[in-house]
Amino acid sequence: MGTITVTIDGQQVEVDQQATLLDAANKVDIEIPTLCYHPDLTLHGSCRICVVEDAESGNLLASCATPVTDGMKIKTITDKVIEARKMNLELLLSDHPNDCMTCEADGACDLQELVYEYDVSEPSFGLMEEGKFEVKNENPFIEFDSNKCILCGKCVRVDNEVQCSGAIDFIERGFSSKVAVPFDQDLGADFSSCVFCGQCVEMCPTGALTYKPAKGQGREYELEKVETTCPYCGVGCQIELQVKDNKIVQVGSIYDEDHPNPVGETCVKGRFAYDFVDHPERLTKPLIKKDGEFEEVSWDEALDYTAQKLGKIKEEDGGEAIAGLTSARCSNEENYIFQKFMRGALGTNSVDHCARL
Ligand code: FES
Repeated sequence: MGTITVTIDGQQVEVDQQATLLDAANKVDIEIPTLCYHPDLTLHGSCRICVVEDAESGNLLASCATPVTDGMKIKTITDKVIEARKMNLELLLSDHPNDCMTCEADGACDLQELVYEYDVSEPSFGLMEEGKFEVKNENPFIEFDSNKCILCGKCVRVDNEVQCSGAIDFIERGFSSKVAVPFDQDLGADFSSCVFCGQCVEMCPTGALTYKPAKGQGREYELEKVETTCPYCGVGCQIELQVKDNKIVQVGSIYDEDHPNPVGETCVKGRFAYDFVDHPERLTKPLIKKDGEFEEVSWDEALDYTAQKLGKIKEEDGGEAIAGLTSARCSNEENYIFQKFMRGALGTNSVDHCARL
């Protein structure tokens, strides 16, 4: 593929012929605000926050959706650009509740940040009718408040293009437009194909989609971010635990093309099933049954006991009298070591894995 040269804010940039103005600006670290754009999703071009000015014609162009042409000269910050971005923010705000103080997304809302940056204190078009849409929250995982939705369509695209669930789409037109599941029901409705992967919440730039279990548990700036591997299967998805007071509040996505889940995908377990970490009934010490009752013992005692029992069975009845069952929650390496131990040390080929149950 050939390259072409464009000039962005006076800097010459060489880019692929298929690049957009936003790609060209990113290449030289010129920041352009976006709301509906995501590098892993198809283009939508709906928010128009990313407008830039063509230095020759004076036209405003949506940088995320405009392909570069050779010799183009672009300015990313001019009075005209700032005025247009402000106007677009005012239009969004005119159809958005003004409840930042109690909104779950406060501090993590792209709209709030841009409104602050562009000093849009009051929309000149009046404010929306309050409670225009019903909040959908009949499921245990995700609250869906269409009143806060800016129709950027990132949730719809990630659902359709990455997760391939086809659970949500746009319905209605004009001021009644919104994102919904079929028949405008809750995400957890019987016929809904939502699998509660949480990808829509991760993509949402406002507080329209939020995690129910995290409600009231902490603001974005209070949460410590810990990158880790999901404990639920051997795929090794990378996730971001968001922790407050040493307790997991929610699980966020990490976007990295080198990860097995490059667009931050998780399953419902990886996203929501972390109560076990602090559960009072969680086993933290080995148990041995003595006189019919389980008793907590040290790891040394448990290992000695197991080795002695397995050795006795092997001696009396041979290795084939022993079978081993391992777990999908272990890593591939752990499962490999387990079968090696069963075959090499105990002399049995009766090894299985819970994924085949
Ligand atoms: Fe370009 Fe929304 S980010 S139109």
